[in-house]
Amino acid sequence: ARSLPRSLGVRTLRHRVAFAFDIDGVLKAGPTVLEPARRALQLLEGNNARSVRVPYVYVTNGGGPSETERAALLQRELGVPVSPTQVIQAHTVMQSLVQDFGDKPVLMIGGPEGVPGASRAVMEGYGFRDVYTAQDIQAWAPPVYPFAKLDPRWHEAGAVRQADFSQVHFAAIMVFHDSRDWGRDIQLMCDVLRSRDGVVGNVGDDTHPQVPLFFSHGDLLWGNDFLASRFGQGAFQHAVAAVYKATSGRDLVATTFGKPERGTYEYAHERLRARAAELGHEAGELNTWMVGDNPASDIAGANGYGWASALVRTGVFRDVEGPPAHQPTIIVDDVEGAVLHALEQEW
Ligand code: G3P
Ligand code: MG
Repeated sequence: ARSLPRSLGVRTLRHRVAFAFDIDGVLKAGPTVLEPARRALQLLEGNNARSVRVPYVYVTNGGGPSETERAALLQRELGVPVSPTQVIQAHTVMQSLVQDFGDKPVLMIGGPEGVPGASRAVMEGYGFRDVYTAQDIQAWAPPVYPFAKLDPRWHEAGAVRQADFSQVHFAAIMVFHDSRDWGRDIQLMCDVLRSRDGVVGNVGDDTHPQVPLFFSHGDLLWGNDFLASRFGQGAFQHAVAAVYKATSGRDLVATTFGKPERGTYEYAHERLRARAAELGHEAGELNTWMVGDNPASDIAGANGYGWASALVRTGVFRDVEGPPAHQPTIIVDDVEGAVLHALEQEW
């Protein structure tokens, strides 16, 4: 482990420092926790020259489980206590849509095929009361997508929600998590988007208003344990938009959550203030550092919101591809370097 700068113990605290950590490409590479991440978090848990616990949150465009499940998983992986209130996933802020769509039929797209019904349960936990999945529609009418069969585990687990979809008028489509079957999901989404009345397959003349569409994030790329960046939900959004345009002649209208959207940073900021209070810090200005690997997502959002940022070399960003499209405060090798630099700046 690198040692703390010697100046840490003697300078007075100018601002209260806080951190927002991206997960994929910063703390983890695929399923593997990066060693610098463990050391960085230990520093913030009080193993520092001031012996203070520093407020921080996790702001990831990943998702899938509930915030409570994700917190428990992170706690096991990272070896530090994690409260669900520190976990902001791409779809966390989609809870705000409950107000408009909580009691209306919603088509939810994305989430692991092998964990039947799990993503629906998370949306229900947010307060959505009428959620259908692509798998429910596949079960109702297999010819809706003849090129792949419904994963039998959905029936085995009793996770299919039965309905006569010729009678269901979808009020919105919510892409909650990464699509596991782009072909099926693009087909079903276009069926609903092009429908006259929100009913799957009731194609009209494409002059009616488009069914509202929401994506949990727009990352074109993300970093895992493969040697090159992988397509994210943003790539899927491009694919949906291209097929929708080709079939309807219209431009896709969609709202995107997650980073770099301002709403996500506002939400994270509120969580950091609450966290600082929980840790017994006096109320006051927070000087927050976003630590991320993706210039277009983590860094663009931090710049837009007025946070400092550290871009790491353990994920999407690679020096060989040239300077980042969005300029961070600093470029460092890894998250430990980011934390050490920020503490030295702020303390
Ligand atoms: O699908 C997850 C990915 O797009 C980004 O996750 O933690 O790097 O924001 P993260
Ligand atoms: Mg990342």
